[in-house]
Amino acid sequence: PQPVKAKIVKLESLRGQRVRVSGWVHRRRDQQEIMFIVLRDGTGYLQAVLTGNTTKTYDAVTLQLEASVELTGTLKAVPEGQRAPGGHELVVDYWRVLGPAPGAEEAFTNRLNEQSDPSILADLRHLVLRGETASSVLRLRAALLSAFRASYAEHDFLEVTTPCLVQTQVEGGATLFKLDYYGQPAFLTQSSQLYLETCLPSLGDVFCVQESFRAENSHTRRHLSEYTHLEAELAFITFDDLMSHIEAIARLFIICETVDKLLANPVTAALIKTLNPNFTPPSRPFMRMSYGSAIAWLNEHKIQRPAEDTDGNVITKKDEVTGKDEPVMVDHEVGDDIAEAAERQMTDIIGTPIFLYGFPAELKAFYMQKMPRKEGEQGPICTESCDLLMPGVGEIVGGSMRIADMEELLAAYKREGIDSAPYYWFTDQRKYGTCQHGGYGLGVERFLAWLANRYTVRECSLYPRWPGRATP
Ligand code: 4AD
Ligand code: MG
Repeated sequence: PQPVKAKIVKLESLRGQRVRVSGWVHRRRDQQEIMFIVLRDGTGYLQAVLTGNTTKTYDAVTLQLEASVELTGTLKAVPEGQRAPGGHELVVDYWRVLGPAPGAEEAFTNRLNEQSDPSILADLRHLVLRGETASSVLRLRAALLSAFRASYAEHDFLEVTTPCLVQTQVEGGATLFKLDYYGQPAFLTQSSQLYLETCLPSLGDVFCVQESFRAENSHTRRHLSEYTHLEAELAFITFDDLMSHIEAIARLFIICETVDKLLANPVTAALIKTLNPNFTPPSRPFMRMSYGSAIAWLNEHKIQRPAEDTDGNVITKKDEVTGKDEPVMVDHEVGDDIAEAAERQMTDIIGTPIFLYGFPAELKAFYMQKMPRKEGEQGPICTESCDLLMPGVGEIVGGSMRIADMEELLAAYKREGIDSAPYYWFTDQRKYGTCQHGGYGLGVERFLAWLANRYTVRECSLYPRWPGRATP
């Protein structure tokens, strides 16, 4: 009979029939007269058996690892004891090579292995992607994005697509990628936040999934020069509503609800189990810690920060044992930024998600709403801002309430030395029907690094970019 052409993931209902499947040779094992192939087509893996006459015509030069092939045969169920992906195998009666892969054996087994130098893995990212781990991470990433979209749809948020080419900054001029735009200066976007704010009066609550770009010279496990930024903006809310929304307890919930969706689906639950066997969904509500208590907590736990001179350069001193220049460490003070290392130690010790909120205005972007001050309150002016920290990764979400008042916004531009002219469209929101509003940005690669227990965000991007790397 004519074979049915099918993708591997759809084979179950075709057991007992003659089928034709195209894919790549993922593994091959020869046993005298029998040859076993694991075929990969991107939707799954299929065990195929070639026996008798089929192996006689088998050409060692062409039917090799990573060759693309078309296999035709009868799909047979396999008893549970003999493990085969999907519980069936293809007994092949006809096959042909579509694209041979000479040299793949050398490239895939000699150059690409666990001991490979990270720079080789980065250069060969296009081949690394064919591996089981890398492709599982990307599969989970796709599921994560659709689960986010489904959560937003359930809560009546509309998806918009914001521009990448912009002429305004959001998170400070220091990390902008500048470019020449028909003779005018322009930048690659750092955040779509300002655009999302302009959508509230026409579309209501909105979200976007857009690439953000940061020219940060940070060679860390969690910094990329280009990353996927999931951002949302909500109208007519309070700061407390915002934190509840990001978390899981009140009117709207994004993080926990999305994780629940992934765990409820057997396919994505299995992916999480393979990549992160010890994963347990975070319990809720999340711990909330004010910026001031976080500084006190760090000092109680003797977690220090590198001292800096007045120009912001780290002060070092020769270590008596190693003879190397090491940073001089000092206690944290109110007003200090909580740097990545301290933040990571804190999440590792506490071991659960933490909402850090109320950062001093000095440390934060120009657009953030100030916290109301109580009579006689001392210390820095704080903002209605919050960062969500996850164990193993640190900050995965940054959010805040936005300045809703026109005069206050104009004063904020001035304080930060920002020319307000290019921001006229953003300022206009405060002129024509302003409202209390806020939102957040979530780093998709960081969220995935937490969910899939990856060492670095570089594993969570298709083709990661970091300082000095924009290839492949
Ligand atoms: O904290 P950030 O800079 O906040 C904003 O951009 C706000 N305008 C977002 C908003 O309110 N709409 O960035 C938000 C998140 C961070 O918490 C982090 O997860 C991620 O973006 N992020 C990065 N991820 C990878 N590499 C980088 N260099 C990142 N910088 C920020
Ligand atoms: Mg941040």
